[in-house]
Amino acid sequence: MKNIKGLKITIIGMGYIGLPTGITFARAGFKVVGFDINKNVIETLKLGKIHIVEPDLQEAYEEALQSGNLKVTAKLEKSDVYIIAVPTPFKKNENKKIADLSYVESASKMVAEVLEPGNLVILESTVPPKTTKIMTDILEENSGLSRDKFLTCHCPERVLPGKILYELEHNDRIIGAEKKEAGNLAKEIYKEIVKKGEIYITDDITAEMAKLVENTYRDVNIAFANELSVICDKLGINVFELIKLSNKHPRVNILTPGAGVGGHCLAVDPWFIVEQFQQEANVIREARLINDYKPQWIVDKVEKELDFNKNKKIGILGLAYKPDIDDLRESPSMEIALTLKEKDYDIYACEPNIISNEINGIKNLSLENLLNKVDYIVITLAHKEFIENIDKIKRKSYIFDCIGLTKKF
Ligand SMILES: NC(=O)c1ccc[n+]([C@@H]2O[C@H](COP(=O)([O-])OP(=O)(O)OC[C@H]3O[C@@H](n4cnc5c(N)ncnc54)[C@H](O)[C@@H]3O)[C@@H](O)[C@H]2O)c1
Repeated sequence: MKNIKGLKITIIGMGYIGLPTGITFARAGFKVVGFDINKNVIETLKLGKIHIVEPDLQEAYEEALQSGNLKVTAKLEKSDVYIIAVPTPFKKNENKKIADLSYVESASKMVAEVLEPGNLVILESTVPPKTTKIMTDILEENSGLSRDKFLTCHCPERVLPGKILYELEHNDRIIGAEKKEAGNLAKEIYKEIVKKGEIYITDDITAEMAKLVENTYRDVNIAFANELSVICDKLGINVFELIKLSNKHPRVNILTPGAGVGGHCLAVDPWFIVEQFQQEANVIREARLINDYKPQWIVDKVEKELDFNKNKKIGILGLAYKPDIDDLRESPSMEIALTLKEKDYDIYACEPNIISNEINGIKNLSLENLLNKVDYIVITLAHKEFIENIDKIKRKSYIFDCIGLTKKF
């Protein structure tokens, strides 16, 4: 085998995961090629610019380019190692939430065309159990090589947007492979970038499930808190006080309820388990439904509190899917704002992380302007600016506080 850093790595998919991963391998001394089917992505990258928002990534990209270790291309080249980091959304136009594996399938077919004996293909995308085996089947069928001639494994990614470069180095990683040789080789490679974390080798299905279970664990725990918030409302007691007191128990740690669960991971990944285990995955499915229902529950509460009076101006504090980011994907706060708007309420928002006067048709005001303008506010997120100005916010007479920001005990 070549010296480990002599291995050429091609990253398939230069998005939020593939681009920082490629940059990190290049900075560690590997020769890296970044490949994407989106011509705009490649054109932007070729101009020396990155197309995603992530702290310190532009500087890291420039450094990787200058080192001569990283190049980007719209044509897939032969390599020693291929890392697939393509999207795994839901299938569109389906009633059920089913993983759309078409990106993984087409990326695998492309790799098959250039695959050579001894190559290692690593699947980093978040996938339903047994997808690594599907990838291996596709590689075998389309390359003309039998599966004992090449290596495959799954190495799921668990980085947090906003801290990706840091977490690539610090987070523990799991590598899952059918063949021991594949797991060991992948570990040697990742060891060069995972400088502060541990790397654990297991089988492919356990690795696939580990990634899904991590996000499902959080989703289920949030669902418990959200369910409590609905029960407490019926009881006429304050859920935030209840949770604070219950958490005084030495072995209890209940999370804080919120406006729901958003983003492209927690709101998506648990369904990849449910789709294969319709009979068994009951807690997981129920948790997803509870979290998905929370925005509608908030809309109903707000309407009742306003006595369905559409002349009142409503201000939503926060539109992103979690605090201090600008990401609106699957955002429950956005859903609340849009549902109320569709019902003809006069809706305004303050989303300080997005510099735009309008977001999806909702007027985006400064906190000060919003507080002056509206009659009623709905607090959906603990953005830094809201915490810093909590006294001003509390002066409003009508507040629906989904996250307990104004109710500290
Ligand atoms: N973004 C995150 O925070 C995060 C965290 C953990 C895991 N993941 C998982 O990582 C995977 C990738 O997510 P992402 O956020 O980087 O997606 P992304 O949409 O930012 O990027 C994916 C890229 O893949 C490209 N692509 C699609 N098909 C291709 C093909 N056949 N060949 C080459 N390029 C192709 C797209 O053009 C796009 O640029 C997903 O499975 C996601 O669930 C994401």
